[in-house]
Amino acid sequence: MKFSEEFIDRVREASDLVEIVSQHVNLKKSGSGYQGLCPFHGEKTPSFSVSDVKQVYHCFGCKASGNVFKFVQDYQGLTFPETIEYLAQRAGIPLPVEEEKWQQGSDQREEKKLLYRINHYASEWFHHRLLKLEKSHPVWTYLEKRGLTEQDAKNYKLGWTSANWSDLSESLVRKNAPIDLAEKLGLIKKRNKGSGHFDLFRSRLMFPIYSPTEKCLGFGGRVLGDEHPKYLNSPDSDVFHKGQVFYGLNWSAKHIRSQDLAIVVEGYMDWIALDKAGISNVVATLGTALTEKHARLIRRYTSNVLVLFDGDSAGQSAAERSLPILLRGGLFVKGLFLPEGMDPDDFLKKEGVKALNQKIQTAPDLFSLLVEAEVRKMGSNPSDKTKTIEKMAPLLDAVSNPSLKELYLESLANMLNVDKSVIPVNRGSAGSSFGGSSHFAGGRGRGPSRGSRGPHPSERSRVQESAPAPANSRPENQSFNLKGASRLEIELLNVSLLKSVYLEEVLNSSVLEYMESEGVKKVFEELERLYRQDPSRFDTLPSLLSSKVDPGEAVTLHLTSPFQSLTEESARKLIQDCIKRLHEKFLRSQSRALMNNLKGSQGLDQKNKLEQIMNIQRDRREIKKDQKTKDQSSSIQEPNANE
Ligand code: GTP
Ligand code: MN
Repeated sequence: MKFSEEFIDRVREASDLVEIVSQHVNLKKSGSGYQGLCPFHGEKTPSFSVSDVKQVYHCFGCKASGNVFKFVQDYQGLTFPETIEYLAQRAGIPLPVEEEKWQQGSDQREEKKLLYRINHYASEWFHHRLLKLEKSHPVWTYLEKRGLTEQDAKNYKLGWTSANWSDLSESLVRKNAPIDLAEKLGLIKKRNKGSGHFDLFRSRLMFPIYSPTEKCLGFGGRVLGDEHPKYLNSPDSDVFHKGQVFYGLNWSAKHIRSQDLAIVVEGYMDWIALDKAGISNVVATLGTALTEKHARLIRRYTSNVLVLFDGDSAGQSAAERSLPILLRGGLFVKGLFLPEGMDPDDFLKKEGVKALNQKIQTAPDLFSLLVEAEVRKMGSNPSDKTKTIEKMAPLLDAVSNPSLKELYLESLANMLNVDKSVIPVNRGSAGSSFGGSSHFAGGRGRGPSRGSRGPHPSERSRVQESAPAPANSRPENQSFNLKGASRLEIELLNVSLLKSVYLEEVLNSSVLEYMESEGVKKVFEELERLYRQDPSRFDTLPSLLSSKVDPGEAVTLHLTSPFQSLTEESARKLIQDCIKRLHEKFLRSQSRALMNNLKGSQGLDQKNKLEQIMNIQRDRREIKKDQKTKDQSSSIQEPNANE
């Protein structure tokens, strides 16, 4: 979906960064802004700064930076259009009509919204049913037996449906809810005889399933005893597709991102048990096989996945089915088989979290695990080996990362004790089935790309050294490349973003002529244009620019302490100092160029050039003299900046 610039601006203005970050990060007032623990990398002391005035954030630990869009995109793993939609909804801004039509008719959109509303209503209904019950009720006894407290029930929004046949139906009717839609969601069903509807979930412990943006998609309902089916899940609907949804992702997304690993389990109860034990980077499938859509969903947050399988034959075959799908999804896949007859919940209860963490940390690649299992079963005859090769080689073709593929090929050859030339494998890159261009084109053994929205913040600085930013990752069309910019230029840019008087001072000097970096020069020109258009928008400039400059942190560095603690006097001194140094550097390179030229020239031409050189040298001496009289090096040291 394409939104107009005006619409994007409206959404930006209506979305407060501090408020949105605060939902996920504990921010404390600090200096002219706020500080907290960076949600993009694990840390114990806060290095994440957020400015309410400028509406940008910057982490001096991992260099994550940007405006409110970037934050929501990266934190929630949304695409740019999804981010706009999410923030627009949050701010109560209706989506433009044309854009609604764009998505196959506005009716359908309206209907989806209603479906979410009904599910939300039902989830609240179920939840309150549970909380209202006496603690002596069988469902509480059951929860207690499974180690879950009332607080857990609240945290995970667990619910209860009574044995009555029409509790929810009647309540929906009373609320004038669109009954046909509640039917579509599989919550209620028309009675065959007589009129009215009856409830489909009865006498069940309810687990609501949410999207990463906390929309209620559907439910799983468990019986308390041994009746069948043990779990009843909502049927697939316009808002619920079991093959694309994970239970728990709404709570675990941030942990998956910060730990750069997603652990996949099978059941609701397993997810809850792990989360309660402090292992929170987990998602649960809804009892269905993993799909490519699942793999793609995981890749929004990390490229590393660990699948926990039950240690029985079902677990083994689930592993065999999952591996090619996850590999094709461009993920690094580890695997863990629990002892026979145990699921993660059982394992935690029997062996404890320490033992599980230990297993998680040392989990091997699932590919190796499966090959080992095959080799164990296999005889040593060439025909046995050939059969194993036939079974395992297709897995190699699913690997999109060329170095990983090569290493798997080698390990397969080693384990079978054969030459790798006998293993048929498609040598070209398998090409991930989605995700498009890789940041690691040519595969340097680091890993698959993280999809089109760029690398994880903690990877960002490394990636930038080697790979150009994909053109399509910028929501707005114009972009500025500041990668080669010097420390001086970046400092000058960031001081200019602190106060409008500083920007004016810089713009009124002739420093733009001396800029080495074409990108920085262009940014200043853009700043000048925007600022002159409307000086009252000065504070919005970093947020406007942050999505257009690369790296984005080049316009958010001013949130860090050396800049924040500048007094007016030292800031002005810094500006003058930067300008002088840039002037000096400019003259130096000019005179160098003239010197080189001088050799090939004669007569008058030579005389003119010599004169120019002498003038330049004089200017340089002047600047230097001036420089010495001031106190030296007011320049700010920034570890990452390059000169
Ligand atoms: P507990 O038995 O309560 O510990 O459940 P669990 O979370 O360990 O689930 P289990 O391993 O038995 O099953 C994994 C997942 O498969 C569940 O979370 C459900 O999503 C799904 N599932 C299990 N049993 C059924 C069933 O009878 N019908 C359907 N439709 N899904 C089921
Ligand atoms: Mn279980």
